[in-house]
Amino acid sequence: MSVQPGWVPPGVDIGKANTARVYDYWLGGSHNFRADQDAARVLIALDPNMRATMRANRAFLGRAVRYLAGQAGIRQFLDIGSGIPTEQNVHQVAQAAAPGARVVYVDNDEVAVAHSQLMLDDNPDATIVHADLREPDKILADPETQLLIDFTRPVAVLLLCVLHFIPDSDQPRQIITTLRKAMAPGSYLVICHACRDANAGLADQHETVYSSRVAAQLCLRTREQIAGFFDGFSMVEPGLAWMPQWRPDHPGDVPEDPWKYWGMAGVARLDTP
Ligand SMILES: C[S@@+](CC[C@H](N)C(=O)[O-])C[C@H]1O[C@@H](n2cnc3c(N)ncnc32)[C@H](O)[C@@H]1O
Repeated sequence: MSVQPGWVPPGVDIGKANTARVYDYWLGGSHNFRADQDAARVLIALDPNMRATMRANRAFLGRAVRYLAGQAGIRQFLDIGSGIPTEQNVHQVAQAAAPGARVVYVDNDEVAVAHSQLMLDDNPDATIVHADLREPDKILADPETQLLIDFTRPVAVLLLCVLHFIPDSDQPRQIITTLRKAMAPGSYLVICHACRDANAGLADQHETVYSSRVAAQLCLRTREQIAGFFDGFSMVEPGLAWMPQWRPDHPGDVPEDPWKYWGMAGVARLDTP
C-alpha cells in the first residue's frame, strides 16, 4: 500500500494518474506518484521527445509572457490550467519584466492549487483560484480574480496545454467566447495546443493511453481547429506556429523538425470584444 505524503491535499486519488502530475514528472518535478510516472513513461515509450516537448512549451510560455509584459505593455495575466509550479512561472517572468504585474492562476487540480498557494504566500500581486476552465463565468466572477484583474483594462488570457483536455462536447469555443467578451480591447489570448497533423496515428495512440491510464480525456486537434480558437482576435507575428518557431530567442533555437514538438502556439490581440 502506498503512503500518501503530508503535502497531498485530502481526497486526492494518487492511485490514478492525472495531467498535472504527469506533466510535473516530465518536467523533472517531484510532485508525482507511481501511477503518474508509469503513465508518463508509457507516453515517453511512444514518443521519446516527450520531455523535450514539455520544455519547449515552457520556453514558449517564457517568450510569450516576456513579449506581453515588454513590447505589448500588458500588466495583468489570467493563466488558466496553470499547473503545479515549476521554474519560470508566469508571475516570475511577468514581474521580472514589469514589476507589479498581476497574475491570477487557475487550475482544477488540488495539488497544483495547494503548491501554488505555498509559492504565492508572500506575493500580493499573484494568486491562485481553484476552478474549472469549463466554467469560465465562475473564474471571471471569483473574488480573487476580481481583486487582481481590472477587466476594463487589457489582460492576457493564457490557455497553455489545457484546451486539449477540453473535448468538443464541453464546447471549448464557447468557453473562449465567454472569456473574450470579458476582455477589454488591447487584450491578448495565448494558446498552445497539441496538434495531430504531423502524425495522426501517433496522436491516436496518445489519446488511447490517456483515456486508459490518466484521469483526463486528451483531444489532439488539427491546425485548422486550433486556429479556430482565435476567431475574433488578430494573430501577432508569426501567427500560429509550431512552438519552437514562435519568436525564438535565436534562429538557431528552431529545430529542423519543429512538428515533433506537437504544440502549435499563437498569441493574438483583441481589437474589439
Ligand atoms: C499540461 S499542464 C499545463 C500547465 C501550464 N499551463 C503549462 O503550460 O506549463 C495542464 C494543466 O491544466 C489543468 N487542467 C486540465 N483541465 C482543466 C480544467 N478543465 N480546468 C482547469 N484546469 C485544468 C491540469 O490540472 C494541469 O495543471
